[in-house]
Amino acid sequence: MGRMGKILAVVALLAVLVCIELWRSNRTIDREIIGITRSDIPAGFDGFRIAHVSDLHSAQFGEDNSKLAALIAEEQPDIIVITGDAVDKPWDDLDALERTAAAFTAIAPTYCVPGNHEYKRAEGESANISDVVSHLENAGVTVLRNQAVELERNGDRITLLGIDDPNGRADQIPMEDAVRLAHEHYGNDFILMLNHRYSRAEEASACGVQVMLAGHAHGGLIRLPFTDGVIGPSFVWFPKHTNGLYDIDGMSLVSSRGLGNAGWTRRMFNRPHLPIIELHIK
Ligand SMILES: [Fe+2]
Repeated sequence: MGRMGKILAVVALLAVLVCIELWRSNRTIDREIIGITRSDIPAGFDGFRIAHVSDLHSAQFGEDNSKLAALIAEEQPDIIVITGDAVDKPWDDLDALERTAAAFTAIAPTYCVPGNHEYKRAEGESANISDVVSHLENAGVTVLRNQAVELERNGDRITLLGIDDPNGRADQIPMEDAVRLAHEHYGNDFILMLNHRYSRAEEASACGVQVMLAGHAHGGLIRLPFTDGVIGPSFVWFPKHTNGLYDIDGMSLVSSRGLGNAGWTRRMFNRPHLPIIELHIK
């Protein structure tokens, strides 16, 4: 083989490896059990399991996400949460979203907060995402937009609070008011927050939240050694808190790398992420 032949062989091999990695990092699901051990978890919630779906961006893992739903069902979660960016573009198929959501609610009670892409795809309609919300609600999903519900298990109760995205209504209440109102309404010490934006973790911790589940970062798109991802949302270089469990001034943050891709972006060394969160008493 001549010199040119060797160069072409190396280039061809690299192209094949890149294709395999693009398939692995964009089409295969990394299901990860993440334990949160804290002393303030009410006894009845010891062993509580949450399947955390984030940033689907209308991706399909199997028809109507049957493969994703099967992976979730195997884990027998107490609840399923969707932390935003379930859809991506204005022309995305909302009936397909509804069928995906129905597959989730058939497994466990499912709760959702909007992400920036729910609003982005509705641009021009001034924060009107009622079409996405109604498809989710038709499937039995509880959509929380600065609203809380109470979860009960083995006689104990916690508050589940969903924070709306800042891209939503300009006059929406600040996070600290949403936390205060949730405390006043239910009187539970323990707040589990759903919040699309991982970057609002410090704010949530300062509000006295115990656990926050988030997305938005997509794992920093390209995960290289000694980084927490290379590119964050809005082209932030070398973002922080993009993958898994972090302690944020005493609050437990789970940042999902998400499952889908925004627009043209593709992942490398960063498989679609399905955290299964398990609460344990210290
Ligand atoms: Fe996203």
